[in-house]
Amino acid sequence: MQEILRTSFLILAIIFVNFGMVYAQDAETERLKTERRDLMPVPASVNWKSGRLPVSKTFSVAIKGQTDERLKSYIFRVMRRLEGRTILELPREYAIDASSAQLLIETQSTGNAVPKLGDDESYNLEVTDRQAVITAPTTVGAMRGLETFLQLLESDREGFYFPAVSIQDKPRFAWRGLMIDSARHFQPMEVLKRNIDAMAAVKLNVLHWHLTEDQGFRIETKKFPELHQMGSDGLFYTQDQAREIIRYAADRGIRVMPEFDMPGHATAWLVSHPEIGSGAPGATYTIERRPGIFDPTLDPTNEKTYKLLKAFFKEMAALFPDAYMHIGGDENEGKQWNANPKIQAFMKKNGIKDNHALQTYFNKRLLEFLQKDGKIMMGWDEIFQPDLPKDVVIHSWRGQKALADAARQGFQGVLSNGYYIDLMQPASQHYAVDPIAADTTLTAEEQKRILGGEATMWSEWVSPETIDSRIWTRTAAIAERFWSPREVNQIGDMYRRLAVVDIQLEELGLTHRKNQAMMLRRLVSSHDISALQTLVSIIEPVKEYRRYNLRKQTMLSPLTGLIDAAQADAPNALIFNRAVEELISGNSAENAEKIRLTLTEWRAAQPKLAAQVETAAALSEAKMLVANWQNINAVGLEAVSYLEKNETPPAEWRDATLKTLSELTKPQAALEFAIAPGVRMLVVAAAEMSKLKNASASERREKIRSIAFPKPASKK
Ligand code: ACM
Repeated sequence: MQEILRTSFLILAIIFVNFGMVYAQDAETERLKTERRDLMPVPASVNWKSGRLPVSKTFSVAIKGQTDERLKSYIFRVMRRLEGRTILELPREYAIDASSAQLLIETQSTGNAVPKLGDDESYNLEVTDRQAVITAPTTVGAMRGLETFLQLLESDREGFYFPAVSIQDKPRFAWRGLMIDSARHFQPMEVLKRNIDAMAAVKLNVLHWHLTEDQGFRIETKKFPELHQMGSDGLFYTQDQAREIIRYAADRGIRVMPEFDMPGHATAWLVSHPEIGSGAPGATYTIERRPGIFDPTLDPTNEKTYKLLKAFFKEMAALFPDAYMHIGGDENEGKQWNANPKIQAFMKKNGIKDNHALQTYFNKRLLEFLQKDGKIMMGWDEIFQPDLPKDVVIHSWRGQKALADAARQGFQGVLSNGYYIDLMQPASQHYAVDPIAADTTLTAEEQKRILGGEATMWSEWVSPETIDSRIWTRTAAIAERFWSPREVNQIGDMYRRLAVVDIQLEELGLTHRKNQAMMLRRLVSSHDISALQTLVSIIEPVKEYRRYNLRKQTMLSPLTGLIDAAQADAPNALIFNRAVEELISGNSAENAEKIRLTLTEWRAAQPKLAAQVETAAALSEAKMLVANWQNINAVGLEAVSYLEKNETPPAEWRDATLKTLSELTKPQAALEFAIAPGVRMLVVAAAEMSKLKNASASERREKIRSIAFPKPASKK
C-alpha cells in the first residue's frame, strides 16, 4: 500500500484532468443511451429490433434441455425480482408448452456444479413480441443471460415490457473477482451472501476471500482450533459456514478462492503459535488492532512452521474446492528476519542472498504442499520469481506493468491495481483501468495469460453496516471492465447505467443506499436529516490512505462517523460539476440558472445544519466542514452572479478567491467537498469567459481547467 501512497499526488492530478473528459461527451452519451439502454455490463453484441414482449400476470417460464436445481432456483429468484419490480403476481408453475411460454430457457448441459476457471459463461438472448429465449451451453451461461434479461425490463404508459432484441454475449476475461477482506473487520454471513448476489447481478465470478491477517484469523480449523480461537475475538467462520458460502456462491456461478496471507500479515497466527514467528525467542503476540504494515512474520527457517502449514493447507484444500489457493505474500518487509541471528545464519548456510530469496524459499516449500493437495498457488506480486512453475498465478496490486512482465515470462496474472475500491476513488477512475494496457506490447499469446481482474475491498474502515456502500455501486463499473469489450469505455454513459444498477442492487438486500439515512439519523439523533443529507450528497471521504492520518482509528473503533456515512462518487457533486462543465462548454444561460438554484438551495439548508451540529456531539468534528460549506456556497453564488450578468470581476478577484477556496475545501473530519472542482472552475469561468468568447468549447475548457488546477511544480 505504500507504493500507492507515493503515487497519490499523481493520481490527484489525473482526477482533475479526467474531470473535464468525463462530462464533455454529451452527443455521444445520448447515442449510447439508445444503443445500450440500461445494460451493465454491456453485452458483446446487441442488436435492437422493433417490437416488445409485454409483461402481464400470465407471464410464464419454460425450461428445456439439461437443467439442474441450481438453474431452477436461479429462475425462481429472478422471477421474484421481476414480480417485485412489476408488482404483478406471476405464475409459479413452469409452462407445459414451451412454445407458449413468454420466457424459454434452454441449456445444453448443466456444466460444473461447482464453477471452475474457464467455464463457458456465454449465452444468447432473443426477445420477440411473442417470446424471450435464452440459450446457453451451461447453467452458468443461462444465469448470466437471466441477469441481462432482467436489465432489459422497461415500462411506459402501457405497462412493463421487454424490448425486442438479439444478444450474443460472453465475457472478455475469465477471472472477474471481488476480494472481500473478512479479516480486518469480520463480515457476517448475510453480508457475504448479499454481496454474492450483487456479484452475480453484474456477472462477477470469483469471490476472493481474504481470511487471515494481522488483525484476525477468521476460519475454523479442526486441526489447530487454537488458531481461530485465540486469533479472532470469537469472530470466525465455522467450516460449515464456509461450505454454506461456497454452495451459495456456486449456485450463482461464482467461485470462492480463499487467501491465507503469509509470511507477513500473520500476527493473528502467532497469538497461538508464537514458536513459528520470526521474533526473538520467547516473543509473544497479540491480535493487532491498528491499521498498517507490521513486523510479525512466519519463520521460514523453522521446520515447525512447515509442519503446521502442511497440515493446515491440507485441511483447507479439502474445505475449499476451488483449484486456486492464494497465499498472499505481500508487504513482507523482513524486519524480524533481519534482526534474527538464527534466520541470518540459516540464510548464510544455505546461500540465500536476501529476504526476497528467503521468501521464495518459503513459497517453494508451500508450493510443494499445495501441489500435493491438487492446488494451484496464487499470490501477490511479491511472490514473483521467474523459476516458479508456470501455473502459479501472479495477482498484481502494483500495476499493469508488473503483470505484463510476468505474462512475458510465461505466468498468468490477475490485476487489482486500479481496482482498490477501499481508496474511495470515483468509479470513472477504476473504469479507465484495463487489465491489459491499451498500448500493450504483449503478444496475443501473452495477453491470454492476463486472466482478468479483481476489485479489492480491504476492510480497515468498513463495518457490516457500511461495507456495501464501499463496494457498490462502483464495483459494477469494474465488473463491466472485466466483462465487456475494451471499447465500452464512455464515462458519461457508464454513470448513467450505474445509477440504474444502483437501484436494482437494492432489491437483493444490499444496504449501500438505505443505511446512509439510518446512519445520519443516528448522528443527529433526529428524524430531521434533510440538511445533513444535502451536505452528504456533495462530500466524500478523503481518497487513498489519507484517512489513516487525518482521523486516526483502530480496528476496534466505531465506524459510525460522518465519514462512514459519506460515500465515494457523491451524487449531487457529480451533477453539479457536470453542470459547470456544460456551462463552460456552451450552454451558459440554462446551466448558470441551474447552478444558481442549486447553490441557493444549499445556502438555505446550511443554517439548519449548523444549528443541529451545535448540539449533535457526534458531529462536532464536522463543525468546520459545515461552516466552510456556507462560504463555498457564497463563493459559487458570487461567480454565477458575474456570469449571469456578463460582468467581469476585478482583476485580483480570481486568484484571491481561488486561494480562499483552497482553504475552505481542505479536508475536515477526513471529508472533502466533491464540488470543489466545480466551484473552482466556476470562479475561473467568471473571470475568463469574456476573454474566451471566440475560443472553441474545448479550448475554453482547457484554458479554464489549466488555471483552476495548475500543475503541481515537479520536484527535481
Ligand atoms: C496489498 O495491497 N498489499 C496486496
